Amino acid sequence: MRTQVAIIGGGPAGLLLQQLLHVAGVTSVVLEQRSRDYVEARIRAGVLEMGTVGLLEQVGVDGRMAREGLIHDGFALALDGEIHRIDLRDLTGGSTVMVYGQTEVTKDLIEAAIARATPLVFEAEGVALHGLDTDAPFVTYTKDGVNQRLDCDFVAGCDGYHGVSRTSIPADVLKTYEKVYPFGWLGILADVPPCDHELIYSNHERGFALASMRSNLRSRYYIQAPVDEDLAAWPDERIWDELALRLGPAAAAGMTRGPSLEKSIAPLRSFVAEPMSWGRLFLAGDAAHIVPPTGAKGLNLAASDVHYLAEALTGFYANGAADGLTGYSAKALARVWKAERFSWWFTGLTHRFPDTDDFSRRMQRAEIDYIVGSHAAQVTVAENYVGLPY
Ligand code: APR
Ligand code: PHB
Repeated sequence: MRTQVAIIGGGPAGLLLQQLLHVAGVTSVVLEQRSRDYVEARIRAGVLEMGTVGLLEQVGVDGRMAREGLIHDGFALALDGEIHRIDLRDLTGGSTVMVYGQTEVTKDLIEAAIARATPLVFEAEGVALHGLDTDAPFVTYTKDGVNQRLDCDFVAGCDGYHGVSRTSIPADVLKTYEKVYPFGWLGILADVPPCDHELIYSNHERGFALASMRSNLRSRYYIQAPVDEDLAAWPDERIWDELALRLGPAAAAGMTRGPSLEKSIAPLRSFVAEPMSWGRLFLAGDAAHIVPPTGAKGLNLAASDVHYLAEALTGFYANGAADGLTGYSAKALARVWKAERFSWWFTGLTHRFPDTDDFSRRMQRAEIDYIVGSHAAQVTVAENYVGLPY
């Protein structure tokens, strides 16, 4: 089999890249190691920047999102139960975010791939990349027990943090930067109305909490917890009690409790790999970088990466211009590092660290107090939260 771009990984990065290339007339094949059911069942974050929404519109995969997504004009920052609103629309001169589950984005992109017959292979096992430093790269894999070979011009590594693409770059070329946080997020999903019409990020003496949602009938909540915590120690009622304490009396009053549909603990990590390209291989999304979920930037960074990459590849096929491809890594990383900074900063502002002594606690309080009282500080928070321009 032959295609122009072999895309490794059928998460949001790989699937969106395929549709961006498709509308530009560039052919690609997505190779995903998991089954369609598995990919569509993964529960992930749910806040889209307008840039991400724009890309989904550009590829015509915005119908259900336009009907079901919720536009949020702001969010709240709570300190020990007292809530302060950040008015995104006012502070940014009109920008908002869209609350629409990443799981739904993935489902919509898979449906589009099938409807448009853009090749998408699930359960592609043993994917290996070859000849990346030549002008004739190829990918081998096994499908239904049969060995396959896919020849291509370029390989897009969209296979997430645990994928094979990043590790195909020689160790002496790749530099990685990493910070692992000393806690995780215990998440709960429940079919109950949200406690507020906007998200609440709370810094509380007992640790961070977040009230989020998937729709007006489905809520998503998180509490900071030790990453090795035994979930059995957290029956639903204990989670609801803890959320009520950490989010404060106003949120607790609006909170509807219900049985959890899903419950899990996720670790928090900041990670960047440089460069994001080597020879004919181009990394995008979680394959190249991870952010802690506090700023809701994971999917949005994957989207800006594939926007830059699609532009570069399209330029190459339209007029043979290689400068877009040469400049891809630096261009993508410039935006990545700023989102890394914001996600790291927001995590530091709102979480309780093992070494949070009285002084650091007062520093967190002073900083939130400063944000609440300063228009300039709020503008800074808001412009990062809605997403920096591409
Ligand atoms: N071969 C083929 N596919 C692979 C391989 C492999 N060796 N390894 C991983 N994959 C697939 C995974 O099964 C997954 O479907 O690559 C995909 C990577 O998808 P994500 O992990 O979702 O990463 P990405 O598309 O970059 O999305 C970034 O979405 O997944 C969230 O937290 C993530 O918010 C971030 C954003
Ligand atoms: C979510 O709804 O899952 C969510 C929302 C905002 C975040 C992280 C996760 O910052």
